[in-house]
Amino acid sequence: MLTSREIRRQFLDFFEQKQHRIVESAPVVAHGDPTLMFINAGMNQFKDVFLGTGTRDYSRAVDTQKCIRVSGKHNDLEEVGYDTYHHTFFEMLGNWSFGDYYKREAIDWSWELLTGVWKLDPERIHATVYRTDDEAYDMWKDHLPESRIHRFDEKDNFWEMGATGPCGPCSELHYDRTPDKNGASLVNADDPRVIEIWNLVFMQYNRLENGDLQSLSTTHVDTGMGFERITAVLQGVNSNYDTDVFQPIISRIAKLSGKSYSSETNDEASVAMRVMADHVRTLAFAIADGAIPGNTGQGYVLRRVLRRASRYARNIGFTTPVLCDLVAILVESMGDVFPEIAEQQHTIERIVKAEEESFLLTLENGLKRIEEMIEAEGQISGANAFLLYDTFGFPFDLTALIARERGIEVDEEGFNEHMQAQKERSRSAQKDQLPGTNRNLHASRTPRNSDSAYRGTGDG
Ligand code: GLY
Repeated sequence: MLTSREIRRQFLDFFEQKQHRIVESAPVVAHGDPTLMFINAGMNQFKDVFLGTGTRDYSRAVDTQKCIRVSGKHNDLEEVGYDTYHHTFFEMLGNWSFGDYYKREAIDWSWELLTGVWKLDPERIHATVYRTDDEAYDMWKDHLPESRIHRFDEKDNFWEMGATGPCGPCSELHYDRTPDKNGASLVNADDPRVIEIWNLVFMQYNRLENGDLQSLSTTHVDTGMGFERITAVLQGVNSNYDTDVFQPIISRIAKLSGKSYSSETNDEASVAMRVMADHVRTLAFAIADGAIPGNTGQGYVLRRVLRRASRYARNIGFTTPVLCDLVAILVESMGDVFPEIAEQQHTIERIVKAEEESFLLTLENGLKRIEEMIEAEGQISGANAFLLYDTFGFPFDLTALIARERGIEVDEEGFNEHMQAQKERSRSAQKDQLPGTNRNLHASRTPRNSDSAYRGTGDG
């Protein structure tokens, strides 16, 4: 069986042999792109090349890119733990052409790698194309019967990195895990039996702020393959969490908690272990690349992720910091590929531990209070969601998650009104503290979680 390490290497080698330059992953924290908080795709670091505002001294590239999808256009947070193939942090294997090759090579080489090198059963592969892309459709006919080539519309087959930026029609490869290879109707149906493994984007446009599409001066190729997904496929397991990418972390959590893990069920312990294993990767890689949990922007996204993981850890009996103890095992399995996590292991552990300790001070009481609210009102009002946020440090999405698990409503609009009122209070308190006046030293306190990005939006 191929290890994940070998799979990553073989992808890079395959394209290197086709004259691609192997490049480093960009830091996962999006430094310098105001449209993004975190890198959400391999192409982000090449955005300037696509837009024609930057150049490279190569026209073909290949890499594995660290990605985080927890906010903005690409947000997989809610699925994590409950399904087997979405992650907040993942690696995206990608190959690029900058004004060099286009659809023909992108399609043929993807086929060659999957079926020639990795020997995947061709009968399990489906291709999708953008509904009007006859050219890609016809190219796929060289490899696949028409019963396994499918047309989809913008939602599935027109890829955009965010509200603005490079974009274009795409062609995806899906892998059919059904026993009788009969999964055509499950393509793009959010069903784990047929999953997307690779997206070939044919970059042609720039989406402008007014929504218009502007043609790029030349065409490019941008592909993204889910590393953890292809690893699951090649290792013959149905869940990404059963691969050697996640198993070391899951085994450690199982050992520390004394609970057993089941890949087949969504019992409380198994969901918690998946969430913790996923979220610790996001925390470690983001912190290694310069983000710190905090009250705004990227920092608040990390805080939400950590508090969500803490609450799941609490579900399986951890009442003291535990995420910090998982960093070492992650470093052991990935520290040679991404040396930044090894170099900063102790910093990551320290920051994660301090964050866990501070949340654990209020978590228990917050959970008790939420139970009282549910018992008293059968729902969570906006005022109560705000109280949980302001007094117990519960990010709104954590409250919403608990509400969803209990099958009750939480008033998001009411919560937002309270947030807005708090922001106004804190703005006017600041105004009253103009230098030299000193008249409002005892003005209303700035609430603990005062924060302009409390929902962590704004990412691409
Ligand atoms: N840029 C290709 C993808 O993210 O799927």
